[in-house]
Parts: sequence; structure tokens; C-alpha cells
Amino acid sequence: MSNLRSANYPRMSKLRASTSSVHDQLDKKIMAQSPFESKANYGLFLRYQYYLMNYVTVLYSNPQIAQIIPDLQDRDRCEQLIQDFQDLGMTQPQPLTTLSPLDASLFESLGWLYVIEGSKLGAALLAKETEKLGLHSEFGARFLAGSNRGSNWRQFMQGIEDAPLNESQEHAMLEGAQAAFKFANELVELSYGQSENAHVA
Ligand code: HEM
Repeated sequence: MSNLRSANYPRMSKLRASTSSVHDQLDKKIMAQSPFESKANYGLFLRYQYYLMNYVTVLYSNPQIAQIIPDLQDRDRCEQLIQDFQDLGMTQPQPLTTLSPLDASLFESLGWLYVIEGSKLGAALLAKETEKLGLHSEFGARFLAGSNRGSNWRQFMQGIEDAPLNESQEHAMLEGAQAAFKFANELVELSYGQSENAHVA
């Protein structure tokens, strides 16, 4: 972890330090599904990502969060995912009805957003993998693309640092990040546990 980062972004460093092990667990779980081995596997990875992004899309239209995080609505990737399904001739999955709606306070929501916005950092790496399947930012891997990824992430980090949070609100944000990673981990089983051709046209 860069000292510059921990000096300039103390809250982001706390978020990262408190979630790095559950992130690695999630990363390993997803990569164990060999998401880039075939288009069929990639379709299941897209389905997982769609369930995740669809579950949190409510955060991107929250006016209170929009006061803290710049360009909030533009950061939502659901539209790109829907286009990726169309590119691949796959039916857009129906949202999972077994999930109770996301219920998080404003401060917990900032922790959830850290997890979803942070996942765009790894997306750069994953986008490279999709090239082996002939996919790219304008066909089938739009949701992994990231124009201005670096500046968008810095603006996100600055928004979190500048937010007027007291100690218990900051703690709620850290708890939100933990809850989001726990959800993202459990969703792997839920999503991959379904029949493979649940959404293939
Ligand atoms: C599919 C497997 C995944 C891989 C290979 C992966 C890989 C990475 C990489 C390389 C980074 C950048 C680390 C750095 O800048 O030093 C990163 C950051 C991050 N990833 Fe993942 N990731 C994966 C899945 C996910 C998922 C599914 C989520 C959330 C649901 C996630 C959340 C995050 C977060 C929050 C960060 C930012 C950490 C920080 O710098 O504060 N990742 N990931």
C-alpha cells in the first residue's frame, strides 16, 4: 500500500486494510469458476456481475450519496452489462427474487459503494482476459471497460475523505464494506448454483 495513499486517503486505507482478506477470498472463488475459459463460462460470470450490480443500482440514484460522490449516476454499470448480454445473444437474467432489497444507512452505503466502485480497479486486469474470447470494450466486455478509471477512482477516494463523518459514521461505513463483500461472496454460490442454461436464449 502506497504511503502516499495512506497519508492522503486515511479512510480509504482503513477500508482497504479491513477488506483485503475477504477480497482475496472472493477473487479466488470467482477465478475458480474459470470465467474466461469459454464464452459459456464468461456468460455465467456476466450473470453474477449483473445480479451484483442490479442489487446495488439503487445506491447510484440516491440524492444524499450524490452530494458526497461526484458523477454518481454515471458510475452505474447495469446498462453496459445489459448491452453485453445482447452482444453475446444471451437473455438478460431476471433479478433474483430470493434476495431481500438492500437495506443500508447512508454511511453503510458509502462502504457498499467502495466495494462496487473499487471492483473497477480489478476490472482492468479482467478486461485483458476477455480479449482471448474476442471480446472488448465495444463488444461483450463493456462493463469491464473504464475510460478515466484512474481519475474516477481518485474523485471517489477524495469524496470519501472529504465527507463530514464522525467516528461512529465512519465505523458504519467500514461495516457497510464488510457487509457488501459478505454479500458478494454469498452471491457466488447463489449465482453459480443455478442451472447453467437459466438465461441462455
Ligand atoms: C474476479 C476476480 C477479481 C480480481 C482478479 C480482482 C483483482 C483486483 C485488483 C488487481 C485490484 C487492484 C489492487 C490495487 O490497486 O492494488 C482490485 C481492487 C479491488 N477489488 Fe477486486 N478483483 C476481483 C473481484 C472483485 C470483486 C467481485 C469485487 C467486489 C464485489 C472486488 C472489489 C475490489 C475493491 C473494493 C478493490 C479496491 C481496493 C482498494 O484499492 O482499496 N474485486 N481487485
